[in-house]
This record gives sequence, structure tokens and C-alpha cells, in this order.
Amino acid sequence: MGLVLSIVTKTCSVHGGQTELEFEKDWWKEYFSGDIVQTLKIVEGFKWNVDTDFVEEALALTEGSRILDSACGYGRFSIALASRAYRVTGLDFSAELLKEARFEASRRNVAVEFVQDDMRNMKYDSEFDAVLCWANSFGFFSDSDNERVLQLISRSLKTKGRLLLDLHNKDAVIRNHLRKTWFAKNNYFVLMDWSFDARLSRSILREIIVDANEGVVKDQVMSMREYTLHEMKLLLEDAGLKFLQVYGDTSEGFTPEGFGIDSSLVILAEKERER
Ligand SMILES: C[S@@+](CC[C@H](N)C(=O)[O-])C[C@H]1O[C@@H](n2cnc3c(N)ncnc32)[C@H](O)[C@@H]1O
Repeated sequence: MGLVLSIVTKTCSVHGGQTELEFEKDWWKEYFSGDIVQTLKIVEGFKWNVDTDFVEEALALTEGSRILDSACGYGRFSIALASRAYRVTGLDFSAELLKEARFEASRRNVAVEFVQDDMRNMKYDSEFDAVLCWANSFGFFSDSDNERVLQLISRSLKTKGRLLLDLHNKDAVIRNHLRKTWFAKNNYFVLMDWSFDARLSRSILREIIVDANEGVVKDQVMSMREYTLHEMKLLLEDAGLKFLQVYGDTSEGFTPEGFGIDSSLVILAEKERER
């Protein structure tokens, strides 16, 4: 077949007992670029059907609300929210995913401002009524850079503006996800090997994609800082954000009662004051 994906092999090294703990710091740059669109289609497909009602209600959006979709990816939430006439800025680092987002917004005739930027450098100041950060898009960086991102999100919000964060739940990751899994899709086998570095509180995913005809077409590693609700509450407080509610996923959608050690971790917070 015509598909040729580059082989990307990375290592995540941690030196036991040393103070200099390492991981591939900028793994996300390569991971979310190049053939990311193709990879995404193989691994999970594009999921356009998002829970916009939940997001709208949690963020208490009102007519004309201005929303920042931080790490918007291919723009599924940006486009869904803009379709409801909110003013949306979708920010992402990946040129390839933003191209998809722009294409889809234009195909649906929806106006979204898509911006290519590193979320660690966001310069917004008290501009947004709400920030959405969905699908585990918080935790890619070093602890200090992750905390900086939260500070920048806080700065981008107006006073009383709300943040909705959808994260891995560290407790659930440790209990349920540390294993090898695989599935077959079309001509591909996707192999996933999850492990956890307890010194850094980072989960490590080695993902291998095998084309039945061509063999291994992708071999890559990602490393995510995982947080518990309790840790996130402390970080939110440091960033001037007041914790409002936690939700977990249930068959009826996201509910406060659904949150627990095995659930996802969706946090709603509010900007308390200008800093
Ligand atoms: C798991 S995807 C989530 C996308 C989107 N929120 C969604 O729900 O579909 C993570 C996103 O983070 C983006 N990303 C990674 N590092 C980034 C950075 N430094 N600055 C901005 N975006 C980044 C990736 O390009 C990718 O689109």
C-alpha cells in the first residue's frame, strides 16, 4: 500500500536514585506533528461527536461568551462551540492538526480563530470568559512548565471566568492502565505499552503501529505528568483559580457523583481575582 509512515523511536530514560531525572522533554513536538493526522485516524479516528451540552453548562456560557480552547487539536470542541455562536479561539502547536481544524470549520461554515502557538507562551490577559482544556492536554511538560501553563490559563481568564480541564486521573491510571494492550484495525495492529515512573509521577506510553504488509511503521513514546484531584487543587490555588467541582465519566455523561478512583478527572474552576 501507498502509506509510508516514518519510524520514530524515542527513549524515556530515568536514572534510578539520581536527582537528575530525565524524560524526553520535547517528545510532544514530534509526536503531534508529521504524520499525526494519519496516526490519529488509525489509533482512534476523529471523534466529532462531543458533549457540548456538558461543556456549555459547566462553563456557564452565555450569549457571546469568548472561549479559549487550549490545545484544540483538530478543533472538534472549538467548532462545536462556535456552531452555537460562541466566540472561540482554538490554540494548538500542531500545524498539521490545525490544518484539519481549519478545513473542517470552513467546510461547516463556522467561524473559529485558530492560532498556532506553544501553550507555554500564551500571552492572553483577562480576555476569555472560559477556557477549555480537553482530552489530557495538560501534563506534557516538566512540572514547572505544567504549572506555568496553569498560570497562563488563569491570566487569560477574566475575573469569574471558568476553566474546564479534562485530565487523566492519576489514581485511575495506576490502578487500571499500566499494562500492554493491542487492537487490530483495517490493515494495522496497534500495540500500547503503558508504564509509570513513580519518582516523576509520569505515565509512559510506548505505541507501536504495525502495518500487516510493511511491518512496523511507527514506534514512539510519550510521557505525561499525572495528577490526582488533590494535587490539582493545590496547583489551581497557586494559579489563582478556585476549585468549583469535579466530575467523572458515567454512562449518563459527566457527573460529580461519577468521580472516584477509577473514573476520569474533569475539573471545573473559576478565576478568583486579577493577580
Ligand atoms: C490529546 S490532544 C487533545 C486535542 C483536543 N483538546 C481534543 O479534545 O481533541 C493534545 C493536543 O495538545 C497539543 N499540544 C501538545 N503540545 C502543545 C504545546 N506545547 N502547545 C500547544 N498545544 C500543544 C497537540 O498538538 C494536540 O493537539
